[in-house]
Amino acid sequence: MHSFAYRNGSMHCEDVNLADIAGAVGTPVFVYSRKTIMDDLAELQQALAPLDAHVAYAVKACSNKAILHMMAQRGVGFDIVSGGELWRIINAGGDPSVCTYAGVGKTEQEIRYALEQNIYCFNCESENELREINRIAGEMGVKAPVAVRVNPHVDAHTHKYITTGTNENKFGVDITRIEELYAIIAAEMPHLHIRGLQMHIGSQLTELEPFVKAIRKVSPIALKFKELYGIEFWSIGGGIGIVYDGCLASGKQEWWDAHPEQLTLRKFAEAIIPLLQPLGLKILLEPGRRLVGNAACLLTTCLYVKKGEAKNFKIIDAGMNDIIRPALYEGYHEIWPVKEHREQSIVADIVGPICESGDFQAQNREIADVKPGEVLAEMSAGAYGFSMASTYNSRPLAAEVLVDGNKWHIIRRRQTLEQMVADECLPE
Ligand code: LLP
Repeated sequence: MHSFAYRNGSMHCEDVNLADIAGAVGTPVFVYSRKTIMDDLAELQQALAPLDAHVAYAVKACSNKAILHMMAQRGVGFDIVSGGELWRIINAGGDPSVCTYAGVGKTEQEIRYALEQNIYCFNCESENELREINRIAGEMGVKAPVAVRVNPHVDAHTHKYITTGTNENKFGVDITRIEELYAIIAAEMPHLHIRGLQMHIGSQLTELEPFVKAIRKVSPIALKFKELYGIEFWSIGGGIGIVYDGCLASGKQEWWDAHPEQLTLRKFAEAIIPLLQPLGLKILLEPGRRLVGNAACLLTTCLYVKKGEAKNFKIIDAGMNDIIRPALYEGYHEIWPVKEHREQSIVADIVGPICESGDFQAQNREIADVKPGEVLAEMSAGAYGFSMASTYNSRPLAAEVLVDGNKWHIIRRRQTLEQMVADECLPE
């Protein structure tokens, strides 16, 4: 449960007034709650205690060094998707030997780097890739630990851009081909060590059913691979959803009591434990969004208000370059004024300064009738927020702040214009 709430008419993160952070650092700025991340991580680890389960945090959700460092200190492993993410883990004081490396397009340079750093396992996505890792490991005189991502054809009931477990997307190896592929690895790829099996069916899943269905479907294969190849782990992927619509209210226990249909970490654990326990395998989980999503908001300032022919607009200083989820996935983020409003709300579009019609954070949204200069908090911004940011329209990257009790720390300084162009050069 997150730690954002109104107190004395102003929204706080833990014990810090968000207005103070906006005043000191400026906007846009992402504000993370340390307590929220640590509490949810502890809850997940406790709920999974009956299993030999390990959390491999999906770094792509939020890869700030301070966040990775916090996770590493709590004994968390990492699910990475590039050499850059591996470098970040090492730079943040994390241990490469608890990293699993996923993704459909690993380059030779990245594979070599991961082998040099002794990562725990490559999660592979094609026979081609396995052959390439086999070749490189052979040249380096090492055995590369591998697992293959099996695609179980389960509909995750999520947005089409973030569903991955059906047979219509680029991820994984079809469940009908997976046994044949493991046999090929064992017979033809001497520089690989088959260490596990992996799956991931999609992101922002809000129901238990797809998880259960996929686990039921793949369990017999995991068991078979344990017998045939001695695999030691099965990674069941990430994907646990968070609250977007209802986010602010969900910081209070009463909201959860009134919404028994919501997927909680406890319900998730209770559903999967009986299915996984009998397998006697080490179970990896790769949550990204669930550990950081509700743990941050993006503070942004209302610059202008505009009454168009058909609509009201609130023009803010955060754009799709800062948080692209609404534009890319029709993502819904609640937007609240930091200074609490008590008067009548209005219906408006909340739009950014970027020259694109797709640059909106909310459309036809009932929202407080904020005036220019007022600070807003865009909720549920911790996952795939900053990590997907760009400098489009030559807008420097936003700052990031971590709140801890009544203290707060800058964990990323706002990018300067000089830094933004530092790597550009004129032709000779
Ligand atoms: N494991 C694998 C193999 C993945 O591909 C992903 C996410 C995860 C774990 C973590 O999933 P999570 O627990 O965060 O749902 N940018 C999109 C989400 C893309 C997810 C990509 N893969 C969004 O903002 O909704």
